[in-house]
Amino acid sequence: MASKSIFVLVIFSLISLFLGTSNAWLMQPDFYASSCPNVEQIVYNTMKQAVSKEPRMGASILRLFFHDCFVNGCDASVLLDDTPTFTGEKTAKANANNSIRGFEVIDAIKCNLEAACPQTVSCADILALASRDGVRLLGGPTWKVPLGRRDARTASLSLANKNLPPPSSSLANLTSLFARQNLNINEMTALSGGHTIGLARCINFRPHIYNDTDIDPSFAATRQANCPKQAGNGDFNLAPLDLQTPTKFDNDYFQNLVKKRGLLHSDQELYNGGSQDSLVKKYSTNQAVFFQDFVAAMIKMGNIKLLTGTKGEIRKNCRVIN
Ligand code: HEM
Ligand SMILES: *[C@@H]1O[C@H](CO)[C@@H](O)[C@H](O)[C@H]1NC(C)=O
Ligand SMILES: *[C@@H]1O[C@H](CO)[C@@H](O)[C@H](O)[C@H]1NC(C)=O
Ligand SMILES: *[C@@H]1O[C@H](CO)[C@@H](O)[C@H](O)[C@H]1NC(C)=O
Repeated sequence: MASKSIFVLVIFSLISLFLGTSNAWLMQPDFYASSCPNVEQIVYNTMKQAVSKEPRMGASILRLFFHDCFVNGCDASVLLDDTPTFTGEKTAKANANNSIRGFEVIDAIKCNLEAACPQTVSCADILALASRDGVRLLGGPTWKVPLGRRDARTASLSLANKNLPPPSSSLANLTSLFARQNLNINEMTALSGGHTIGLARCINFRPHIYNDTDIDPSFAATRQANCPKQAGNGDFNLAPLDLQTPTKFDNDYFQNLVKKRGLLHSDQELYNGGSQDSLVKKYSTNQAVFFQDFVAAMIKMGNIKLLTGTKGEIRKNCRVIN
């Protein structure tokens, strides 16, 4: 028996080596079944509290996971604080000035997990579970999260600046940034549906509402009312990425794109006469298909370049390496 499973393990290792793929096949939803049986309940309950206190938190945690996975894989590198001797990713263009948020919630989840099962559940797995629960708590789909990620002992500010898409991105820019992560253009469109929840800052949507022509003029006027034209004025003013329901995970984001009511330049690029128009239209009329594709793409994004087995570590505190 044992030799047979070792044989299977070796064969799988060889195949994955050969294909140059990740070790995602090692991941399993019941990874903590014996080491931390209540992990799912603990994450869910803490997220439930956080989201009922501030619904936006579901969105903020989802974005944290995205910004983690796109920089050297889903290894919780995004959570590491800067110190005098360590530079993390929090000052990257897309992250800086508290644009990414929710670290206190991740700390609370980690604290509750450490009490139940010390140094067992990785911060990277916490991000994957918490973002799934945030989506569900705001009315979106749920799914089983493959688990077994381990935490990085490094971070990369330069890769964060290179890999995280800016809101000025064209469709071609987005396509190549996602392709770099092995995500195709349709998966990119499905994942962009994450913008059905959460908020963005004036500094990020100002060029779109003042300078672009692929925008509904009355929508532009509405957004201009709380986002002055001059740079440096109201830069941090917030507006919902999904005009109607920024705390409900639904398909309104795509309905808005069809009406040229995308908030970011990059959002409207998905429906601007290009190859993604038909998929955006489909998602705008069929929420079930959007949910199905979003879930599949989230699982795939969650498997980018993982540390498994004995690589990396299980952090005691998500903000610092052990
Ligand atoms: C396609 C390329 C993407 C671009 C260019 C982009 C850009 C942005 C920008 C500029 C913001 C506003 C940040 C701020 O003003 O502080 C934002 C917010 C957000 N993004 Fe993205 N994003 C992209 C893809 C994604 C993906 C794939 C997800 C998740 C699956 C995601 C989830 C979110 C969420 C939930 C928020 C709101 C966060 C909050 O309210 O705290 N984004 N994004
Ligand atoms: C953060 O905000 C300050 C003050 O508005 C600004 O000068 C700085 O450029 C911002 N940093 C980044 C990386 O966006
Ligand atoms: C976006 O595309 C333009 C034109 O090809 C290119 O100059 C620019 O560097 C790209 N930006 C990113 C972030 O890929
Ligand atoms: C609009 O475009 C002009 C010309 O490129 C530029 O000078 C200006 O800063 C832009 N305005 C905004 C709000 O982005």
